Amino acid sequence: MEATPLSGVLGARVPIRDVRALKDDDVVDLRRLICEHLVVVIESQDLSARDQVDLSHRFGPPADTPFIEPSPDHPEVIRVLKEASDGTAFNFGGAWHSDFSFQPAPPSFTLLFAVDVPPWGGDTVWSSMAAAHDALTEDQRDRFRQLRAVHTARDAYSPKMQPLHSGLSAMTINCDESAEVHQLHPLITTHPETGRDVLFFNRAYVRDLEGSPSEETAGTLDWLHHHTTDVRFTFRHHWRNGDLVIWDNRATQHYALNDYTGFRRELHRTTVAGEPPVSQHTTSGH
Ligand code: SIN
Repeated sequence: MEATPLSGVLGARVPIRDVRALKDDDVVDLRRLICEHLVVVIESQDLSARDQVDLSHRFGPPADTPFIEPSPDHPEVIRVLKEASDGTAFNFGGAWHSDFSFQPAPPSFTLLFAVDVPPWGGDTVWSSMAAAHDALTEDQRDRFRQLRAVHTARDAYSPKMQPLHSGLSAMTINCDESAEVHQLHPLITTHPETGRDVLFFNRAYVRDLEGSPSEETAGTLDWLHHHTTDVRFTFRHHWRNGDLVIWDNRATQHYALNDYTGFRRELHRTTVAGEPPVSQHTTSGH
């Protein structure tokens, strides 16, 4: 199995005739390529929701998906769907984030399959948090290794955010008080499969920094957001029906562009359970 890079930083195309026919060794190879390139594009697939669930299971057990009502027939599948009639409503995934990083053990991989995509627009952009880490100065690395990021869904899924999500007529997103809890993860994590250091940050869910002087925190969060989403660390994919994209949430964040008003966009998402993020630089193991 070979990958053709699609940018100098992350993203690769992997030609596979039919992912449903992958042998166990192929899945091992594919997993290695995803961890290496962080985002893998596999074109021209024909996947039912059941097929997608089966493929996801080959990477690990399903992750929990709070707040979002899944497909009634396939509880592990989220239908990411904006109808043409939803106009300029806020789109699902329309802010830089890493999937459910507010969980104690955020998902390792996400699989997103394009079912009905607009003729233009609706691209997804990913940013490499490994490249963002590698571009830090030694001083910044030393400083950030001392910090833990406070991840919370408070500003995404607490009750005050319900109106933002209610513009999507075909998705049910149930905001509730459970979004108020927070989870601490090291700001610099170590990828569990590649051993690479990663700046595990995303502005949607990282709302505070433990260990940072409070007067510096807002400025540091802004700096981290601008740094980690700098175009030099990104890869952008324009979807075609039948595209399957699998990405590594442990070393990326992503953003779904909302520039297709008047067109329908439907993709099916499954997520694979991950482990609590750890850092090789902290003695306490947090
Ligand atoms: C997501 O953030 O899970 C969805 C991304 C997309 O729709 O492109």
